This record gives sequence, structure tokens and C-alpha cells, in this order.
Amino acid sequence: MNYSTLLPELENGVLTITINRPDKLNALNTKVLEELNQAMNSVYTDDEIKAVIITGAGEKAFVAGADISEFTSLNDDRGSQLSKKGQDIFFKIENCPKPVIAAVNGFALGGGCELAMSCHFRLASANAKFGQPEVNLGLIPGYGGTQRLTMLIGKGKAMELMMTGNMIGADEAKNLGLVNYVEPLESLIPKTKEILNTILAKSPLAISKIISSVNFYFNKEGFIEEAKLFGEVFSSDDKKEGTSAFLEKRKPVFK
Ligand code: COA
Repeated sequence: MNYSTLLPELENGVLTITINRPDKLNALNTKVLEELNQAMNSVYTDDEIKAVIITGAGEKAFVAGADISEFTSLNDDRGSQLSKKGQDIFFKIENCPKPVIAAVNGFALGGGCELAMSCHFRLASANAKFGQPEVNLGLIPGYGGTQRLTMLIGKGKAMELMMTGNMIGADEAKNLGLVNYVEPLESLIPKTKEILNTILAKSPLAISKIISSVNFYFNKEGFIEEAKLFGEVFSSDDKKEGTSAFLEKRKPVFK
């Protein structure tokens, strides 16, 4: 399959999906989300694919978030729909019966952190940075971040990160349980493949049942609430101000 925003590479049963918009720090625009959805469909159906690594192109970013430039052009009442659409693609990743690991090679912000968190677990390069900076745009996380960050690192720290919009480095992310390993950038993919080789030697059926069972830990109601609340902030003046300020490279002034 041909993609314009993804670079897929299949080697020894492991499909590495590289999100490829390095000039925009691999921000998730509509096209990337559509192609990620298609790529995940093929992971579900293609027997040659046994496991997936998701990473970003370049040495600076995994994914720096949803594409903010698309937010300004979107009709305001589309906020909840947009959130739900992203959530559904990330559910597809999370519920994939084959292991999906994020190799976080730089900024994982907003939708990028949410994408990484929808994977079964994460490795990070030493230069990686994590955060949910939506609040700086007058927004909230909308692709499952309010739920998955809270689950992964606990309520207090998740609240702090979402309310301040601050970023944390790879080592802090590891201390908090957000990532399992921190590696030098050059050994990030080899280390991820090494772990996958261990997993791929086990029973694929047992692996798929572990994924299903662990995912039952979630309260799905929380995601529905997140999409509803995302829709509410999406139609606010603060969101208009926050996204315009980012694109105009100035500080926002919220009401
Ligand atoms: N959406 C759209 N474009 C983005 C983007 C995003 N989420 N993140 C970065 N970009 C673009 C920038 O606009 C810039 O484009 P330009 O060269 O055409 O002006 C390019 O990517 C490089 O980013 P830049 O901001 O110049 O890099 P930096 O090293 O100075 O800063 C970040 C890096 C990650 C701190 C900064 O890009 C940033 O804050 N990004 C937004 C993060 C965010 O709020 N994500 C949540 C979105 S909901």
C-alpha cells in the first residue's frame, strides 16, 4: 500500500511505521490519521505482520501533536467528532491483537503523547520529551490522554502535567512509568526489536489474550466524557485565541 505521510517497513514480521512529516515535527493532520487507520487495518488482516513499531521521522520529534493549523479551519461543532475519530484510531492500536510498541524518538506532545500511550508500551530515546500542552491552546487532550495518562502515571502527576502543559524528559517519564526504557537515539529501534523478538517467540494467541485482558482495565465511559468536554472547549474563544497565538508565534491571552 502507498502512503504519503507514513513510511512502512516490514522486516522479519515486524512492521515499522514511521510518521513522516519531519518539517512539521510529524504533527498528526487528517491525512496522517487516515493513513494510520489504513495501516492498522492491514496489521489486523495481514498474516505476514506479527508486530508493529510506531516511530517518527527525523531526530527531533516522535509526533508534536495534532496539527494545530487544521484546528483553526475546523467548524467549531466538529470538536467532539474530531476527538472521537482520533480516539477510535487509537483504540484500534490499543486493541490490536499483535504487539504495538512506540519507539519515541523526540517530542511526544499532545496527540503524540496520546499516540504513544495507545501503544502497548513505550521506549524512549534520551532526547525524548513528553507532555500534554493542549491547555496552552485553550484545549484539553482529546485522543484519550486524560484517561491513559492518568492510568499510566497516576492522578496527581497527570493533573499537574495537563494543567501546567509542562514537558518532562525521558528519564522522568521512565521514573513515572510512562516509558519502560530510555536508550541512546541510535539504539532505540534495535532495543525495541530485541524486546519484540522475545515477545514473538511466545504464543501469539497468549499474547493477544494478554492484550485483551489488560485492556479491560479501562473505564470506557471516561473516553466518551473526554470527547464531549473536548467539544465544549473546541468551540470556545480561548481555543480560537490559543491556536491563533501558536500559529502567529506569540503568547496567548486567555479570558
Ligand atoms: N501542529 C502544527 N504544526 C506544528 C506542530 C503542531 N502540533 N508542532 C510543530 N509544528 C510546526 C511549527 O509550526 C513549525 O512550522 P514552520 O516551520 O512552518 O513555522 C515546525 O513544525 C517546527 O516547529 P517549531 O515550533 O519551529 O520548533 P521548535 O523546536 O521551536 O519547538 C515545539 C518545538 C515542539 C516545542 C513546538 O513546535 C510546539 O510547541 N509545538 C506544538 C506542541 C503542541 O501544542 N502540541 C499539542 C497540539 S494539540
